[in-house]
Amino acid sequence: MTDFQSVFGAAPEGVWAAPGRVNLIGEHTDYNDGFVLPVALPHSAVAAVRRRDDGLLRLYSAQGDGLVTELKAAELDPAAVTGWARYPAGVVWALREAGHPVGGLDVHIDSDVPTGAGLSSSAALECVLAAACNELYGLGLTPAELALTAQRAENDFVGVPCGVMDQMASMCCAEGGALFLDTRDLAQRQVPLDLAGAGLRLLVVDTRVKHDLGDGAYAGLRAGCERAAALLDLLALRDLPPAALDGALVQLPAELRPLVRHVVTENARVEQAVALLDAGDLAGLGPVLTAGHASLRDDYRVSCPETDLAVATAVAAGALGARMTGGGFGGSVLALVAAARLEQVAAAVLDAFAEAGHTTPRVFPAVPSAGARRLS
Ligand code: GLA
Repeated sequence: MTDFQSVFGAAPEGVWAAPGRVNLIGEHTDYNDGFVLPVALPHSAVAAVRRRDDGLLRLYSAQGDGLVTELKAAELDPAAVTGWARYPAGVVWALREAGHPVGGLDVHIDSDVPTGAGLSSSAALECVLAAACNELYGLGLTPAELALTAQRAENDFVGVPCGVMDQMASMCCAEGGALFLDTRDLAQRQVPLDLAGAGLRLLVVDTRVKHDLGDGAYAGLRAGCERAAALLDLLALRDLPPAALDGALVQLPAELRPLVRHVVTENARVEQAVALLDAGDLAGLGPVLTAGHASLRDDYRVSCPETDLAVATAVAAGALGARMTGGGFGGSVLALVAAARLEQVAAAVLDAFAEAGHTTPRVFPAVPSAGARRLS
């Protein structure tokens, strides 16, 4: 008997998976209409789902407290749902708000995406349910439309004013590639990322410093960027070309300048990274990653001592480049490492954390994996 059967007493109609992600480069650019380059992780949220005809939404998480959360699909109230259930409930709410005929469901979720690690565990929960609802209720939505619905759930049900990168990554990434995404019009291209062929690995260091984008700092940064764009009479900071950066900075209040500098230089780094990957120069990506980290640390100021230590240690131990990934304020670091140096870099980071008295990080190599899909 499967776990779904033991919880809900019958077999599911189908099983779907949606992954977490690491972002190679392009951080805090998505809510500025800019570019991002995420890669899906092998870690996924897996949802077994069955429709119900009584309008009840019954949610169970293998990582939860063993209880079934029971809600009415037609009466979902953001203020009344807490914890992990907000993500799947928010998707049903967002689909219904958009006029889609989504009714009751039994949902069993089992996720191995680390939570609070900047690896988009929440987008994985949202996207897996969006993909399941799309098929079970015959909605006919595209992956990008499902990603936008999942983002709406996070923005308006969960209350985190995130951009669209994480949901697009979870829905649209392909195995063996990075997703080059223009977050303004959602134009996308899969850029091949044959790490193994180039003798490279992508090492993820989850510092275990829990990041929480709901705590106001993320919203404050987003508001700062929007204020800067308005002061410069731009639709979004994406519209400021690097050549016009210096002239724009002097027109802005001092506290907004570093934010604008980060966003403009980071967009340029995404384009540079894509050019390197297109040219087959995967190792050339290293310095771009490290420059991205310096910008997040010194200009955007979203790194923390643990992520800074992981980056500095990885580079000193022979990584080609490293940076924090995700929203920041903790979370994870990625390092581009020659396969032959993987153990050495991982060991150096573990040693440095032990010496500094930090919690032991979780270290694992990331293989570019597939986006949301039906498993059975
Ligand atoms: C979080 C958000 C994303 C993006 C990143 C920073 O992951 O959910 O939309 O803004 O932070 O790049």
